[in-house]
Formats: sequence, C-alpha cells, structure tokens
Amino acid sequence: MHSSNTSEKGSQPSQVSFRFRCIGCGSIAVSAAQDFRCPECSSLLEIADSSWNSRNPVALKSLWRERRTLNASLDLSGVWRFRELLPAPESEDVVTLREGNTPLYELPQSSRKTGVSRLYAKHQGMNPTGSFKDGGMTVAATFARQAGYRWVACASTGNTSASMAAYAARGGMRSLVLVPEGKISWSKLSQALDYGALTCQLRTDFDGCLRLLLELVRHASVYQLNSINPFRIEGQKTLAFELLEQLDWQPPDHIIVPGGNLGNSSAIGKGLLEMLDLGLIQRLPKLSIIQAEGANALVRTLREAGGKRLVTVQAETRATAIRIGNPASWEKAVRVLQVTGGSCEQVSELEIAEAKAEIGAEGIGCEPASAVTLAGMKKLLRQGFVKPEETVVLILTGNLLKDPDYTMEFHRGESFQGATQEQEGARLNQFRHPPVVIDATLDAVIKTLKQAEKSGPTHSNV
Ligand code: F0G
Repeated sequence: MHSSNTSEKGSQPSQVSFRFRCIGCGSIAVSAAQDFRCPECSSLLEIADSSWNSRNPVALKSLWRERRTLNASLDLSGVWRFRELLPAPESEDVVTLREGNTPLYELPQSSRKTGVSRLYAKHQGMNPTGSFKDGGMTVAATFARQAGYRWVACASTGNTSASMAAYAARGGMRSLVLVPEGKISWSKLSQALDYGALTCQLRTDFDGCLRLLLELVRHASVYQLNSINPFRIEGQKTLAFELLEQLDWQPPDHIIVPGGNLGNSSAIGKGLLEMLDLGLIQRLPKLSIIQAEGANALVRTLREAGGKRLVTVQAETRATAIRIGNPASWEKAVRVLQVTGGSCEQVSELEIAEAKAEIGAEGIGCEPASAVTLAGMKKLLRQGFVKPEETVVLILTGNLLKDPDYTMEFHRGESFQGATQEQEGARLNQFRHPPVVIDATLDAVIKTLKQAEKSGPTHSNV
C-alpha cells in the first residue's frame, strides 16, 4: 500500500550503477584498490550512485514502512530494507543476520536530571553481534563474497572483529582478525573465536594493527573490512534512515556519536546528507562527535590544526573500543562536522564511568565507549551548545555485555583507585552496586534486604 500515486519498484536489485568517488578531488572510478584511496590525491573514496537522486521520497517512505511487515530475507534486515539507497549487489542472496531494526529508547532518568526532556538513545548494541558494526558488515561481506574472496580481514578494537567473523561465517568465508594484545575485552575476543576467526593478538595497539593490515592486503589475497572500506559506510548510513523513520521523519536537533576511527560519524553524516538531497528530510540535525580525553585525535585536529591536518595521539582509555590515536576517516568526519554544524568534544574517564552507570540505571546499559555520548551531551549542555528544549539522540554503539570486566571493576569499586582519582571518584559511589556474599539463610537475605531499604535507592530513579 502506497500513500501516494507515485510508486517505487525497488525490490529487485538492479545492475551495478554505483561508482567510487574521491572525497578530496571528486574523481570517479568504477573500481578501487584495497586501501580505498584515490590514486590521484590519496583521499578516501566513498560510494555514489546517480540513481539514488531520482527516487521519490514519499514513495520511499511508504515502501520502507511496508517492508517492516514482510518476511522476505532482505526485508527482515534493517539495512537491506533501505536498499534503494544502497549499492546493489548482483543477486538478492546477501549475507545477513537480520541486522538493524534497533530500538530508539527514551531516557527518563537522564532527561529529568539534565532537563533535556526529549532525550533518546538509539541502541545499536541490540544488533546480532552486539554492536553497530553489523550494519556495515552485512553490505561489505556481501560484496566481498560477490568478488570471490576466500579470506576477509580486519584490524580491530574488538567489535569489528566480532562482527566480521560472524558475517564471514554466514557467508562461507574465512576471517583473519588482528587485535592489540591485552587491549580488547574478553567478551569481544571470545565472539571472534566462537565464530571461527583466525585470531592474532599482536603486540601493538589498534593503529599498529591497522598499519599491518594495509601492508598485508598488498601481499596476500585477503579483503579488508575496516571502515575505510566504503561498503561498510554504506551499510552503517542506514542507521540514519532508520532513526529518522522512527522519529516520523522529523529531524532531531542533535545526534551525538562516539568517535574512534571515525567511520560511524562519517556514515551517519553521509546518510543524513543523502536524505536531505532527496527531500526525505527538510533540515540537517547537528552531528556531534565525542572522544575520550586519552584518545582525542579529532578534538586536537580541530583545535590545533583547524581540521586541516591530522594530529595523531598515543591513545589510552579504558573505553578500549575507541582507543585509537590515528583515525583513518578523520577527513570525512571533519566534513560532517562542518556541514551539519556539529561540535567535537572530549570527556574524562570519570565522566565516562558515571554516564555508563546512568545508562545502566535506565535498564538499558551500554559499553564504555558508547557512554561518551551521554557524558558529552552533558558537557555540550553546560556549554550552551545543546539546549534543554531541543531533541537529542545519543547513538549507543555497543551492548552492555561487551565489556563485563569494566562493569564488574566499577561496581566492586576496583576502578579509579589512587589518591586523586579516589577523591574525584567518590561521587561515583552512588552508582556502584557491588554484589554481597552472605550465608544461604533466610535471615541473612532479609537482613540484607532491610539494610538496602534503609539506605534508599542508590540513584534517583523515582
Ligand atoms: N563505539 C564502539 C562500541 C566501537 O566499537 C567503536 C569502534 C566506536 C564506538 C567508534 O566508532 O571507529 O566508527 O568512530 N570500534 C572499532 C572496532 C574501531 O575495531 O571495533 P568509529
């Protein structure tokens, strides 16, 4: 059923019409080398398709909504549901785990505390492997298989590798994972193992892993699936389509995302711009990027170099997903900030821990890297960049279960030890809920219950 008399016949993938376009000099090519950089000016490539512009926005909205009621494999995917604005594979046989279709939650407690009454969280951690990476991986894995690759590979802080390993397994490909030894969570590492990846823990950081991967693809027949691969960006941009659909196509004032290698912010920005060009929305939200203080390459790039050259850092943060000092997609991210008028901020480890606990207390939870969004919003609110009457959407990128060590250390009071941190961290105690070990008797449980009742709720949830 279409709400207008114009129709969109987009359910059949058409013949290839997309091209690779350089984000620097704009040159167009039909194929790309494995580093996905322009041979002329070495800027990153993106995917463009002139057929996207001729789509009818009213018909698209109704087609996409209608598909939510259908059971075909492509329609069940919250990414391929938007296939009219994706590069079209040769067949409908895509590699999918029914990714996307993630919830948009209200955050009532944080709304009350901050005064931002229309505050939402789009929870990408509710994807099949627990992070936003699945949105991009379904597209990139599909094109990798179509190109006939036996092996796919990535460098990762954990989530990309988990996602890639899963999609490779589904697509009948083998996967090679390069991760920094000791610097990714066990839970992400264990996913890669279970999905059958060849997993190499390298004695370096993420940036070292990515450097090595880009060297490897020049010597071995493996297909690289990091976010410099523009097919990843295509899949991830559908987050923006789905979010706007959930908001009945009324753009929020702000979208706030964590920044690591900067693929996700680039992808969401691309999706927003395409929606504006097509008339799916009438104005752009401001897209702001938040980094951890210890991994603040983009913040410094903007402050110290006016966004003109990358300032790299030696990254260190407990939010290991964004422990990245040399972000590959920084140029794309700078453009998104400029065109949407967004801000770029950094938050401390304590601010991240507090925000993560607050998101947990909403009954939602997320991994530490995702919590930079709430911490960042509070900072932007104090600066007056975000106003209480505005609509704000935080992008939660990873599931709470992605980093149980962080959560356990926090609640047991084991993190933020050391003189100054302890003092500053005292306010965190209100969020800590350590487990108690007691005798297995009715008395002991009742006594504990009474004690808890006396001390009242540990955070204001009433
Ligand atoms: N949040 C989470 C949970 C992540 O895993 C990542 C990146 C980001 C945010 C940052 O996104 O890189 O697109 O700016 N994780 C990558 C990985 C690097 O290997 O899993 P970005």
